[in-house]
Amino acid sequence: MSRLALMSLFALSLAACPDSSTGLTDADIACPSGSTLTYASYGAAAMTDFCLPCHNKERPLLSTQAQVQAAKTRIIDEAVFSTAMPEGRSMSLDQRKQLGQWLSCGAP
Ligand code: HEC
Repeated sequence: MSRLALMSLFALSLAACPDSSTGLTDADIACPSGSTLTYASYGAAAMTDFCLPCHNKERPLLSTQAQVQAAKTRIIDEAVFSTAMPEGRSMSLDQRKQLGQWLSCGAP
């Protein structure tokens, strides 16, 4: 393989790297007034779908509301502002925004 072809492959693999910025900002995820999302109505299921396959054992643990609240800032950094998490799964921008808004409300 030519050197140019190798370099293009390298560039492609970088472009495919899932760990990148989503472009969402603090303003996008400010707690909406009148938000009705709660751990019971939303958070528990979102964690089960996207995070618990790993974070029932992997740190930070996200199995309870208290654990999610304690990891709030880290979750926003990894799964709302960045696509680093959920590892190996896709999450739409709307889903990331909704997660961020719920966390900004304090993960009630
Ligand atoms: C397929 C397994 C898997 C899934 C699904 C997953 N994670 Fe992770 N997560 C990991 C592993 C492994 C680590 C530790 C190594 C690393 O940072 O990559 C980690 C690390 C983290 C960290 C700590 C990163 C740091 O450097 O402080 C946070 C926060 C996190 N995950 C949040 C989440 C959230 C939120 C979700 C769901 C939206 C999620 N993860 C889904 C496997 C997963």
